[in-house]
Amino acid sequence: MVTSIPLRDGRSIPTIGFGVYKVDDAEAATAVGLALDAGYRHVDTAEMYGNERGVGQAIRASGLERDDVFVTTKVWNDHQGRDGTLRAFDASLQRLGLDAVDLYLIHWPAAANDRYVETWQTLVELRQSGRARSVGVSNFQVLHLERIIDETGEVPAVNQVERHPWLPQRDLKAFHEQHDIVTAAWSPLGRGRLIEDPVLVGIAAAHDVSVAQVLVRWNVQQGVVVLPKSVTPSRIRSNLDVDGFVLTEGELAAIAALESGQRTGSHPDTVA
Ligand SMILES: NC(=O)c1ccc[n+]([C@@H]2O[C@H](COP(=O)([O-])OP(=O)(O)OC[C@H]3O[C@@H](n4cnc5c(N)ncnc54)[C@H](OP(=O)(O)O)[C@@H]3O)[C@@H](O)[C@H]2O)c1
Repeated sequence: MVTSIPLRDGRSIPTIGFGVYKVDDAEAATAVGLALDAGYRHVDTAEMYGNERGVGQAIRASGLERDDVFVTTKVWNDHQGRDGTLRAFDASLQRLGLDAVDLYLIHWPAAANDRYVETWQTLVELRQSGRARSVGVSNFQVLHLERIIDETGEVPAVNQVERHPWLPQRDLKAFHEQHDIVTAAWSPLGRGRLIEDPVLVGIAAAHDVSVAQVLVRWNVQQGVVVLPKSVTPSRIRSNLDVDGFVLTEGELAAIAALESGQRTGSHPDTVA
């Protein structure tokens, strides 16, 4: 069963979401269909992924009620600013075939362009219109969060950032907790690179689960939304199946010792 985490705007977000980065429209239609069938109720896409059509198609084909599936999409860097964001949002809704998204995010601060405050104000407008039910950001660092909060008085519901044992984002997560912002973890499996880590392999063996399940569970246990991606049917199913074990304090300490600061994706300062 997928649990949910409350959002500061009174809504809630399913703790485990299905990631679809680097999956094309046709593959997304199949993979999201399998994921919804397996029990996922949250899909994480973006205009940049080029698969919103496939995601929408799978949701319609699933036969699930619209309100039973939480859909996140994101405005891409080139479309930041009020007009670009409003156009990008309309285009995303059209490709998804939806009247509203559950969560709309600014994909990256792209701080060099200095349009993220205006973009954030536009997302707040979209939330007020009801077409974006909740709004948040992605890849924002503390200084970006402080600036949008100071200049608009509006706090994002979610900040979606790279997070896994190499990069647990301790300072950012503490800031989120102080401001009632939900942390969401992208690349929770380190894009597959954490799967062979010997410490994680040992912990997985002790619970008779996979390393991916340990990584998903690690986020769930810390109240963090987690977005594993897979196009492999057996992995899609098992990555969601993390209720049958609990990581011990000793295991959490062993995982904490893996922190190295290593990223598997871009640093926010380098993305324009
Ligand atoms: N906001 C952002 O800037 C941002 C950036 C990156 C990602 N994201 C979101 O986060 C999601 C997840 O991140 P990600 O796609 O970068 O990487 P990820 O979920 O950390 O890793 C995906 C990789 O792990 C493999 N994998 C999945 N389950 C596995 C298992 N049980 N055992 C072994 N290998 C497994 C997948 O292979 P197969 O697919 O072949 O099974 C794929 O190669 C994305 O899809 C996207 O929705 C957001």
